[in-house]
Amino acid sequence: MSSVAVVPGSFDPITLGHLDVIERATTIFDEVHVVVVHNPDKQALIPIAHRVALIEKSLEERGIAKSNVIINSWAVGLLVDYCTDVGATTIVKGIRSQIDVAYETPMAIVNRDLAGVETIFLLPDPGHAHVSSSLVRQVSALGGDVEPYVPAVVAEFLKHTTD
Ligand code: PNS
Repeated sequence: MSSVAVVPGSFDPITLGHLDVIERATTIFDEVHVVVVHNPDKQALIPIAHRVALIEKSLEERGIAKSNVIINSWAVGLLVDYCTDVGATTIVKGIRSQIDVAYETPMAIVNRDLAGVETIFLLPDPGHAHVSSSLVRQVSALGGDVEPYVPAVVAEFLKHTTD
């Protein structure tokens, strides 16, 4: 039986930290779904369709755009409904710090309660521990260089978005 995992997130935009976690997930699971999920608690910068396109290009750039890595979006409903639809029993999240553990733990327990979907936490390269999408958005909006934090296609996209 093949193992299917979902790597969900706002990905607004995808960062090198996200990419690192996605790549690690592809070494563990047979099939990985990278899913852009609308988070009502966050004010979005990039439309969901553009975030999906940036993930596609970023995975190509990194050489991990393979047939067993599916990129999708899920704008309405529970994440676990997407997991059930595609036969995924595991959600994968990256953990950078204790703050992430505190943020992710309730979601992981609720997702398990709702549908028996387990969450596993992967540790990204410590070099990405300080990188977050919100920081990238802020630096970019104020004219700073985000190239150290995001794939080149994202840096290029943000340059034009915030010009
Ligand atoms: O990158 P983010 O914003 O931290 O990702 C959080 C996200 C979007 C994955 C989370 O909010 C989510 O799963 N939302 C979907 C709605 C849902 O299923 N909620 C109940 C369990 S958390």
